[in-house]
Amino acid sequence: MSYYAKVSQNKYIPLGDANRRMQTEAGDGDEFDVQQAILKVRNFQEKQKTPLRNQKCQSKSPMINCNVPIDYSLYTYTNLQVIGQGSFGIVYKAKANETGEIVAVKKVLQDKRYKNREIQILQELNHPNVVETKHAYFSYGDCSDEQYLNVIMDYQPETIHSYNTQFLKQQQMIPQIQTKLYSYQLLRGLAYVHTKGVCHRDIKPDNILINPESNILKLCDFGSAKKLSLMEQNISYICSRSYRAPELLFGANNYNTQVDMWSVGCIIAEMFNGLPLFLGTSAVDQLVEIIKILGSPSKEEVLSMNKDYNIKQYSIIQIRKKDWANVFVNEIDPLAIDLVSKILTYCPKTRLSAIQALTHSYFDDLRDEITYKIYEKNIEIPNLFDFTKEELQNNQQLINKLIPRWYVKRNKQ
Ligand SMILES: Nc1ncnc2c1ncn2[C@@H]1O[C@H](COP(=O)(O)OP(=O)(O)OP(=O)(O)O)[C@@H](O)[C@H]1O
Ligand SMILES: [Mg+2]
Repeated sequence: MSYYAKVSQNKYIPLGDANRRMQTEAGDGDEFDVQQAILKVRNFQEKQKTPLRNQKCQSKSPMINCNVPIDYSLYTYTNLQVIGQGSFGIVYKAKANETGEIVAVKKVLQDKRYKNREIQILQELNHPNVVETKHAYFSYGDCSDEQYLNVIMDYQPETIHSYNTQFLKQQQMIPQIQTKLYSYQLLRGLAYVHTKGVCHRDIKPDNILINPESNILKLCDFGSAKKLSLMEQNISYICSRSYRAPELLFGANNYNTQVDMWSVGCIIAEMFNGLPLFLGTSAVDQLVEIIKILGSPSKEEVLSMNKDYNIKQYSIIQIRKKDWANVFVNEIDPLAIDLVSKILTYCPKTRLSAIQALTHSYFDDLRDEITYKIYEKNIEIPNLFDFTKEELQNNQQLINKLIPRWYVKRNKQ
């Protein structure tokens, strides 16, 4: 997919994934030298071919405070293997030499002219379904202007993408209980992120970490995330194409956190079907794929996605929407179909929010003591109900719905 960088007022050029982290938006600071950025990235990726060993945290470098009780700045790390080679950095599986703890280290080339939004956002987040930032520090390359940000995180062995691929190879689908547990935690993590005003903007299977033994799920990669403000315009060239909300395809600049919910709907459907639900080969083609299932959006729906869209020019062949039950290749729980159909709506306002989706009856059997106990006998179930006041924003109705009484009783004993 291509991303764009602003090179002058209102002018963006496609750069490919490599420059995603340097996209500029209104209020984000000065424009940057594109060629220089590309060279720096290439240079950085060349160097990464020889992994660093026993990388000592540089105590003189500015430390970034994280919400963890242990001081990880005291440790040195040995890189064990490269686990992710993203657009702007490398992610290593590493070992803290002093404790033997396995961690993940994301090393990103830092443009000194910009604050790193990813670490700023990660520092604000503290939730069981969001990757934990244990420590972060800057290191330097050969040239004095080469600065790297190293983020030490908890390590998770799989992503939804790698997990799904394993099942797909054997022509199987992810077991339904795992799909339910992962969908629930994905929504819970996102509901929390959204209460912080943060929109992730790149929800996709590779950015969702899981541990298939404990069945825990954690959101990662906040490199495209942003605190959205009503006063500010946001770029619509964001999010991987297959998971991109239709309002973004219609060029909206005033979208909200509901763009993440569209991606979630696509991912839940993908866990059932094994393959992406909407697989367009260009932005236009992506919209066509969506229309094939949701039908052509009405003029009202187009305006609900982008109020500034030139509606006079909008004329489209009327395509009827498909029955959601026929969208799924495998036989699945009708409640799951209902949930997906209520998330994948054109109008962002009618689309379920993350917290609303958590209350959907598809998840009721997790909250039911009898079915929960049956599940618990067969698989590991992470804590699903340890909601904080902040998460539920003191909303008694939500507390009653999302925290089962039996769970409260069990925890008091
Ligand atoms: N904490 C972690 N534990 C285990 N693996 C991780 C962790 N964080 C990231 N990864 C792996 O590294 C990959 C890249 O990480 P991340 O998405 O944060 O980097 P990125 O540079 O933004 O990548 P991209 O641009 O491809 O999305 C992830 O898809 C995942 O496979
Ligand atoms: Mg990523």
